[in-house]
Amino acid sequence: MCKPDEVAHNAATDATNLCFRYTGTAPPIKVVCKTNKTTITYVSSHIHYMLTELLKNSLRAVVDAHGADCEALPPVTVVIVRGEEDITIRVSDEGGGIPRSQVRQMCEKRPVYMKRDLYI
Ligand SMILES: Nc1ncnc2c1ncn2[C@@H]1O[C@H](COP(=O)(O)OP(=O)(O)O)[C@@H](O)[C@H]1O
Ligand SMILES: [Mg+2]
Repeated sequence: MCKPDEVAHNAATDATNLCFRYTGTAPPIKVVCKTNKTTITYVSSHIHYMLTELLKNSLRAVVDAHGADCEALPPVTVVIVRGEEDITIRVSDEGGGIPRSQVRQMCEKRPVYMKRDLYI
């Protein structure tokens, strides 16, 4: 059993701590839970892992896009909604996204982006 909002808050804390350690700052993470039934049948650690990875990407993208010295970094938002059959968890940020010209190389074996100095 898994409480997605609880997992989201824990993943947010972990990703934020990492972001602070590597950049000295971190955008706020807003978790919005739109579901009444807070427990689902899923492995919590799997959602925690996936969400932490997505949040690390988002935090890094926002800091890169706005600069570590930005005084009011725009928040990263996690929205959790229950549909008729599924729970959806959406992570959104204002880091500028992935340029269309780079999408293709992301599916290659040795993507170019891996050469970048990655910190989170
Ligand atoms: N939220 C995001 N905003 C902008 N670019 C992103 C985002 N998420 C992923 N990316 C881009 O996609 C690349 C691949 O992400 P990922 O598979 O998590 O590997 P890594 O984080 O180790 O680079 C990142 O290096 C980054 O360039
Ligand atoms: Mg990543």
